[in-house]
Amino acid sequence: MTASKIDTYRQVSSEILSVLEGEVHFVTRMATVSCLLSQAFPHFYWTGFYMVDPYTHNELVVGPYQGTLGCLRIPFGKGVCGKVAETETTQIVDDVSVFSGHISCDINTKSEIVVPVWDSTAELIAVLDIDSTYHSSFDQTDKDALEYILQHVFAEG
Ligand code: SME
Repeated sequence: MTASKIDTYRQVSSEILSVLEGEVHFVTRMATVSCLLSQAFPHFYWTGFYMVDPYTHNELVVGPYQGTLGCLRIPFGKGVCGKVAETETTQIVDDVSVFSGHISCDINTKSEIVVPVWDSTAELIAVLDIDSTYHSSFDQTDKDALEYILQHVFAEG
């Protein structure tokens, strides 16, 4: 399974970078990354961004995503997304039901990965949240691949 996951990430990474060549608008970049990742992995149930609110800098506001209705705002430190915004460290949750303070936007979510997104000045601008309806869907391969994609699209793009 891991081999096919790596192959899929190689393919979708290449597609994302190709489609976004020359496109600078961050909303367009977020929408495209959400779309292509969601299309590439059928078990990605919710795929999208929570952006740092530029006025308060202490909460996240939902950005472009694919999936069921996402919570509109998440304070730093709350839920998986808020923890990632606070620590700026990727979180992999094998079973959301045992994650203290997990925010359940959809009861079908069973596992989750959340990755910080920095811009070219190393400022945190968002987190990428991906939910699966299966437990333990995410591992080091996902972490490495998603961090690579976000680095090339938002920090170096
Ligand atoms: N589960 C996330 C909230 C976002 S919804 O899943 C889209 C969290 O605990 O931060």
